[in-house]
Amino acid sequence: NTQIFDTPEEGARYVAAKIAAFINKRNSEGLPTVLGLATGNTPIPLYMELVRLHKEEGLSFKKVISFNLDEYYPISPDDVNSYHYFMFKHLFSHIDIDRANVHIPVGTLAEHMINEYCEGYERMIREAGGIDIQILGIGRAGHIGFNEPGSQLNDITRLVTLNPLTISDAAGDFGGAEFVPRKALTMGVRTIMEARKVFLLGWGEKKTEILAKAIEGQVGIEVPASFLQKHKDTEFILDKGAASKLA
Ligand code: F6R
Repeated sequence: NTQIFDTPEEGARYVAAKIAAFINKRNSEGLPTVLGLATGNTPIPLYMELVRLHKEEGLSFKKVISFNLDEYYPISPDDVNSYHYFMFKHLFSHIDIDRANVHIPVGTLAEHMINEYCEGYERMIREAGGIDIQILGIGRAGHIGFNEPGSQLNDITRLVTLNPLTISDAAGDFGGAEFVPRKALTMGVRTIMEARKVFLLGWGEKKTEILAKAIEGQVGIEVPASFLQKHKDTEFILDKGAASKLA
């Protein structure tokens, strides 16, 4: 299920409208909405539109519970390159979400705490009722979250080592590849596959090759995003540039 838009902004408006309709319905029933959220350049237009819907059209996030996909490790939440910093800058500081309902993997844990922490993250998602809507971008190595090539369908939240291509793509933000953390905490492929609805967003020619593999290629661990072909309700949201290598 692939939707192609002229611009990222149009694709973002389409996804934001779907999210807003879902939240509004749940709000009217007095029920929470559980969102799985991504960082990076890709979701920025989506978050801008969600902020606009909150400010101009009364969309309330009071009953939204959010779980972010991933965080670098190690990194401080105050670091401008942390995903914690990103989420408050682009979304959480501008909407009425309850801080207690925001979950972002913590990049400052002592190493011996990580396994227990990751199990706890999975448990919190389950106790919230599971993820209703998961937002994803895709890395040029084929990752979703930080599930790099080699990640398995059964993987859950855990500490992973970043792929060299992922590190080089992040080098600009960190002022050099040597400053990019080597590891990250990430939800697993299985955690993502358990979401009831997934939107994978991709913009621009830089992503077209990996998107063609993810959407039309063989399903397997070489391109973890390809597992989404087996997900029952995933929409791939692309702009024209990102779609240019699709059949
Ligand atoms: C971020 C994440 C990553 C990014 C991917 C694309 O939370 O999970 O999988 O979605 O690396 O990054 P951008 O959007 O910066 O191209």
